[in-house]
Amino acid sequence: MPKTKKIIKTFKAKKPVQKRKRGRPAILTSKQTKKLPLPTEPQKPAEPSQAPRGMRDILTTDKAVWDVLEKKIADLARAFGYGHIETPILEYKSLFTRGVGATTDIVQKEMYCFKDHGEDELCLRPEGTAAAARAYINHGMLNLPQPVKLWYLGPFFRRERPQSGRYRQFHQWGVEAFGDDHPVLDAEIISIAMRLFSEFGLPVCLEINSIGCVQCRENYKNELLKFYEPKQELLCETCRHRLQTNRLRLLDCKEPQCELIREGAPQITDFICEPCRNHFMEVLGYLDEVPVLYNLNPFIVRGLDYYNRTVFEIVPAPEDREQKTEEGDEERKNENDSPKRETEKTGAQVALCAGGRYDGLIEQLGGRPAPGVGFALGIERTAAFLKNKNPALEKASAPQIFIAQLGDAARRKALTLWHEVVKDIPAAAALSKEGLKAQLEIANRLQVRYAIILGQKEIIDKTVIIRDMEAGIQEIVDYNKLISVIKRKIEGDN
Ligand code: HAM
Repeated sequence: MPKTKKIIKTFKAKKPVQKRKRGRPAILTSKQTKKLPLPTEPQKPAEPSQAPRGMRDILTTDKAVWDVLEKKIADLARAFGYGHIETPILEYKSLFTRGVGATTDIVQKEMYCFKDHGEDELCLRPEGTAAAARAYINHGMLNLPQPVKLWYLGPFFRRERPQSGRYRQFHQWGVEAFGDDHPVLDAEIISIAMRLFSEFGLPVCLEINSIGCVQCRENYKNELLKFYEPKQELLCETCRHRLQTNRLRLLDCKEPQCELIREGAPQITDFICEPCRNHFMEVLGYLDEVPVLYNLNPFIVRGLDYYNRTVFEIVPAPEDREQKTEEGDEERKNENDSPKRETEKTGAQVALCAGGRYDGLIEQLGGRPAPGVGFALGIERTAAFLKNKNPALEKASAPQIFIAQLGDAARRKALTLWHEVVKDIPAAAALSKEGLKAQLEIANRLQVRYAIILGQKEIIDKTVIIRDMEAGIQEIVDYNKLISVIKRKIEGDN
């Protein structure tokens, strides 16, 4: 039998399990039982007090870091003239099957899809590029001056196996430029992503590649088949399957045996046509101009079907790839997981941001042909990296002072004082509390440096007490001078 036929035989659809005849119990042979699909994970009953698996609450200290990150994102996107959009969280399923690609992991196993009461097939958006492209077509943005530059920020959903830095509900900052295929746009997009990391002083590496156009990829895929076919017995199961369905993805498999084989694989850069090569060289030239440093990585191929030409990923610098998020570790503890492969444990392959060019997507979705390029940055992963490098950010939105009161008149006055103070200084209070001790304990827990204490006597004297919570020293100041005194103290501390 010729080799190709043999491979096809290996992936031939398996015989369906015999149907149960009416009235008779279904008895399956042990061979048939083995063929039954295994449940992907143990089915635990839903706990109403817990968030769904892989989804989580972002609590205040983490959210403080997110707030800093999101503010920087909005400032940066606006500074570069990108327009903010928001698309629905639900889209028609067909948008992603057509846009992202029927053979991708996202479409084959990770989308949350359902039929609504009107029988529309909807799904929770797994990514934002197809949705932004749909909005571009939907609103006739092709008639605007090109390129149209957009950004979005929000939740996305993929039913993946949760692990460190990988969630089923996660958030992305997406940036897309539609309607122009000039290589300077690729460099512009990449430089904006890199700028975010540099503004926070986060050490990252840009890994970049070109996967050429459809024609270059056809030639390359044939070469890959020639290379991998004789070695298929040595590949992991997923790669054996991908050899038939999505050959390029063999290059980004993280299984050690597949990584080893990959070392000798032909490289796409030897197969890309002249126009694609020139485009890529120009992208690199513009990056040199900024300058943005990059590693040429022939194994970056990306897991979504819409890409062509430039593809890239931004990963933590090598010395920072060991970082693990607490959340991920917690998830592992809860799951009682067996140890994972090294790359998964350390997050060595965790991309903080990824993107590329997608010149065929708009046409694929039924629009008039228009090229595009963009990226999406993972908020969870970037926020965890940021927190790891800069733990003080957790306190970025914490109150700086605490207002305590003693007695009913002081409570009334404290409410007015609080409204005055917050114009200049973030402040907390617990006005329902009676005793000073209880209030100062709260101030301690909030880790504020100064407490302002207001009692009966202070109201009569038109003064307040400033208590330095760290030193335990108190001083009396004039009520009208409070804000300027406290501002000076805080500035002095910084
Ligand atoms: P992606 O590589 O699927 O690309 O996702 C981009 C980034 O989102 C990843 O690098 C990662 O930081 C984050 N991310 C993805 N999945 C998860 C997850 N399950 N948990 C946590 N973070 C995750 C896209 O989505 C493309 N739409 C990017 C793009 C925009 N290409 C062109 N324009």
